Amino acid sequence: MSNDKIIHAIPYVLPALPYADNALGPVISAQTIGFHYGKHHKGYVDNLNKLVAGTEFADLPLEKIVAETAAKTDKTAIFNNAAQTWNHTFYWRSLRPKGGGAPPAALKHAIEASFGTVDACKKELATAATTQFGSGWAWLVMDGGMLKVVKTGNAGVPTTTGMKPLLTIDVWEHAYYLDYQNRRADYVKAVLDGLVNWSFAAENFGS
Ligand SMILES: [Fe+2]
Repeated sequence: MSNDKIIHAIPYVLPALPYADNALGPVISAQTIGFHYGKHHKGYVDNLNKLVAGTEFADLPLEKIVAETAAKTDKTAIFNNAAQTWNHTFYWRSLRPKGGGAPPAALKHAIEASFGTVDACKKELATAATTQFGSGWAWLVMDGGMLKVVKTGNAGVPTTTGMKPLLTIDVWEHAYYLDYQNRRADYVKAVLDGLVNWSFAAENFGS
């Protein structure tokens, strides 16, 4: 690698987890976090740094890389690793120890306007999470002033189709297999009831 590339390659960093690796137990074990954060999320960051070093993407904010490589068939590897880096950082913040419960008032009212009840919203999230075929993500998003639930496959991100994510659930097998084996629905229910971070969703809603 030339000096020029070293100077221009600003490494993306793996953000610190917002809690201890055993703080989401028993819903998500420290062992799962160890692999999911320590191997998978770190792997996406490391791959991204290798892929963008010395390219026109090396100095760009992560969100911009995701936006500029989406749907470009010759940039798939960069998109996948950039998007997965972003998605995982967003996922960790979508969870919190002793989460669940009722959303903050302004978000709760918006959820009720769009879904009828918070339980109906949770049910749509669970359905999206369990019906996503193969790897992907379930999201609560804002789209045209209304809240919606959408799902994306593989590394897909709702921002690339103009939607604003409020929270997400990772439904790649690596998110739950050690704790739940193939019981994705049990993982999703446990996350929605016990870990979902409505305060984070409310921050995104209000920003
Ligand atoms: Fe993941």
